[in-house]
Amino acid sequence: MNKSLLALLALMPLAWLVFAALFDPGLLGTNPAEMITRNTGDWALRLLLLALAITPLRRLSGWHVLIDYRRLIGLLGFFYALVHLASYISFDHVFDALAILKDVFKRPFITLGMLSLLLMLPLALTSTNAWVRRLGARRWLRLHRLVYAAGIVAVLHFWWMVKRDISEPLLYAVVLALLLGWRLRERRRRLTLAAGNARAHTDWAGTRARR
Ligand code: HEM
Repeated sequence: MNKSLLALLALMPLAWLVFAALFDPGLLGTNPAEMITRNTGDWALRLLLLALAITPLRRLSGWHVLIDYRRLIGLLGFFYALVHLASYISFDHVFDALAILKDVFKRPFITLGMLSLLLMLPLALTSTNAWVRRLGARRWLRLHRLVYAAGIVAVLHFWWMVKRDISEPLLYAVVLALLLGWRLRERRRRLTLAAGNARAHTDWAGTRARR
């Protein structure tokens, strides 16, 4: 799939929100502001999880081309998170910086939202090829492990927000646990393989030395 088409598709929910807000706010229910904040939060989280799903999907399906879309999906998720934040700042607090600061310290789910966005920030800033070269692949990959923390904190942010029905955040938590669990299993498998190879090499070197 063409990357512009993917971006266009991912931006459709936002386009719909803008269209509804401008031309028919009734489409957004009784509380359009809340609908916009929640919807953009949902898409930020979905795209973040989709970006995390690319590596397992690629390995399991053999569709290596999927990797070409990961950066764009991550950036789109970050963009939705920024719109989500803008929606919160403008609708919930009408740009009152002091009220926002108080809210961050008073409501833990807001603190977690801010933390998740802060964790995503360095990833978005260093997403270019120039930054991969500047940091070196190893350091860049290490830095980009922050995405796991951003995902965990984002799910906690949603979970903490919900008062009664936890089914939706639970679903996101299960998806995230599966994605992180797969990575842990792969890591363990690689380590076991590497240890096995090292042992085989030592045995082989020992046999040669005795001959
Ligand atoms: C930048 C800091 C953030 C702030 C201030 C913030 C604030 C909020 C607020 C006010 C709500 C709606 C609460 C309500 O309607 O009662 C919300 C919901 C939500 N936020 Fe955030 N958020 C932030 C970051 C994030 C990030 C980074 C993500 C995901 C990557 C995210 C995902 C969500 C989700 C999934 C919901 C629930 C949507 C639903 O009800 O379906 N938020 N957030």
